[in-house]
Amino acid sequence: MGEPIVVISEIYAGYGSGDVLQGVNLTIGKGEIVATIGRNGVGKSTLMKALIGIIDVRKGSISFEDTDITIRSPKWRARKGIGFVPQGREIFPELSVEENLLTGEQVGMARAKRKLRYELVYEYFPILKERRRQRGGTLSGGQQQMLAIGRALVGNPELLLLDEPSVGIQPTIIQQIGRSLLMLNHEEGLTIFLVEQNISLIENVVQRAYAMDKGRIVSVLDGEQVKDRDLLTQYLAM
Ligand SMILES: Nc1ncnc2c1ncn2[C@@H]1O[C@H](COP(=O)(O)OP(=O)(O)O)[C@@H](O)[C@H]1O
Ligand SMILES: [Mg+2]
Repeated sequence: MGEPIVVISEIYAGYGSGDVLQGVNLTIGKGEIVATIGRNGVGKSTLMKALIGIIDVRKGSISFEDTDITIRSPKWRARKGIGFVPQGREIFPELSVEENLLTGEQVGMARAKRKLRYELVYEYFPILKERRRQRGGTLSGGQQQMLAIGRALVGNPELLLLDEPSVGIQPTIIQQIGRSLLMLNHEEGLTIFLVEQNISLIENVVQRAYAMDKGRIVSVLDGEQVKDRDLLTQYLAM
């Protein structure tokens, strides 16, 4: 795994009085592509929310690049270099593609050295350049997902988080998005952490996977295990 970029230690978090996350431990290495897998309702999105800071961590800690970020605001984390693609994409349908990308600028803004990566976004997703004047809402589901990823990339993050990027997207486009993620990882050194239930995307893209059940990590899959469809199916159906 190499040097860690994220260390999540024994965190408890949830909504209101009850904790959804029941002592989650998880490490992401610099330059890795790591996934959390598990069926609906086990707490995958909750873990993402804790990592970007939109819900409070009640107990335990999260560090990013050796800095404790457990109580930092989402904006602070974004500026530190954490980009996020939410479940359901949440692009602005009334804004143009270009305007949607502009809303991603706050990621990494505080770092003078960070340059905005519009060229990079258009290089990886040329369709966005072609459609840059078109309203976001007129794009196909797959193109909207590319736009959501592009928006997160504009601020030049170190770590890209994606919550179920394959949902509602046709298989050929899922493959295409998977290839883009692999290339971003190889060529830009981007660390990627995703929540996913799509077996093809997991086996083609992911290097290590944490299987989750009932708010806990129950297993870590690596090497050939993340390419083992039977094993993946077992954890996704748990
Ligand atoms: N905003 C919320 N308020 C209250 N409970 C929630 C909220 N979001 C999710 N939950 C509950 O938390 C649990 C975990 O949900 P979630 O993290 O979204 O699961 P997953 O992403 O693995 O499908 C579920 O029982 C769900 O009903
Ligand atoms: Mg979810």
